[in-house]
Amino acid sequence: MGEGDKRPDRLRVAVLGCGSVGSQVVRLLTEQAGDLEARVGAPVELVGVAVRRLDAAREVDVPADLLTTDAAGLVTRDDVDLVVEVIGGIEPARSLILSALDHGASVVTANKALLAEDGPTLFEAAEKADRDLYYEAAVAGAIPILRPLRESLAGDKVTRVLGIVNGTTNFILDKMDTSGAGFSEALEEAQELGYAEADPTADVEGFDAAAKAAILASLAFHSRVTAADVYREGISEVTAGDIASAREMGSVVKLLAICELRDDQVAVRVHPAMIPRSHPLASVREAYNAVFVESEAAGQLMFYGPGAGGSPTASAVLGDLVTVARNRLARTRGAGESAYADRAVLPMGETRTRYHVALDVDDRSGVLAAVATAFADQGVSIQTVRQEGRGADAQLVVVSHAATDAALSATVEHLRTMDIVRDVTSVMRVEGGDE
Ligand code: HSE
Repeated sequence: MGEGDKRPDRLRVAVLGCGSVGSQVVRLLTEQAGDLEARVGAPVELVGVAVRRLDAAREVDVPADLLTTDAAGLVTRDDVDLVVEVIGGIEPARSLILSALDHGASVVTANKALLAEDGPTLFEAAEKADRDLYYEAAVAGAIPILRPLRESLAGDKVTRVLGIVNGTTNFILDKMDTSGAGFSEALEEAQELGYAEADPTADVEGFDAAAKAAILASLAFHSRVTAADVYREGISEVTAGDIASAREMGSVVKLLAICELRDDQVAVRVHPAMIPRSHPLASVREAYNAVFVESEAAGQLMFYGPGAGGSPTASAVLGDLVTVARNRLARTRGAGESAYADRAVLPMGETRTRYHVALDVDDRSGVLAAVATAFADQGVSIQTVRQEGRGADAQLVVVSHAATDAALSATVEHLRTMDIVRDVTSVMRVEGGDE
């Protein structure tokens, strides 16, 4: 904080956006004003709420004199100490946050897309302004995961983060697993129940999870990782056959955000994967989220809870708000960005993965040997093979040991061209077991 900063007698808060999260932030700020004052050490006062339309229907009653359509004017008001940004998207959110910091406000945001795309610009602006920029709500809604990575595990070495960080896709995959439904049918049900948007692309194609993976990897590995560094595959190609194949192996399919430290490089990817039903992440059902963290000293930790929704996300926003308000009163700020390690990002082809491959093949001598040779030719070691005869053909299910993703995908490409292979019916990466 600058020399000239005075200890404020109250903390004045501006909220940008009054949708499902913003309205719950406003509700909590109002309903819990007494507790917040006691916890912060000074009154926390809502001084403005920026909205797109003054007459829109809202989940919460906002006094008319607090509503404004002039967000840019609100964040530059001299009497605003803290700005909560819950508009989402890149612009105007980025300009508003930068302007708020520049005008001396501390910022709490839930904006994963912006942080994943342009986090460094925001962190540098916060550093320059000597203000806080907190964003617990940007990843996995109500689940405290960023603060544990940033603070609780600051003395440890995190080696791996495996997350189910998108509730929509977890709901769809869980529905496919429990009912045998195909992807489209499960998506339709998710839309009917309000778990999926009318345009589900950001969720089902993994963009939302990739943004969260970038944020998790940056914090876990003290290095800058943006959404562009994240390998991404969604779940729209996952079939009922893949789910059944996973079930036969005692596994379940999840969309995972995987952040790993490999030879001091960072590997970050989002894709569907089979994990054993015995893995703690397999028990994460419906639209819940969970983040599984492996670190050298602590071992394995799992953080679980609601990853979306107005009220859960507002809980995380308010937690940040209390911390930032306390810092403001103490004329200090929390830890800023930690990117000292400056690690390279490992390309997906060089990342070590395991594959599950199901094939329909001719059932005659030499077929198994030929399939095994296709793996061996790429230097891929086979962990298990299961064969089921079906008259003149057979189904072969091969699970590999870990190899580079490039070697595994080249193996599958080769299998697809072989005469003895009638069809490659399922290809999926495998996580959470022995390599
Ligand atoms: N759409 C996200 C999900 C929530 O389904 O988890 C917001 O990130």
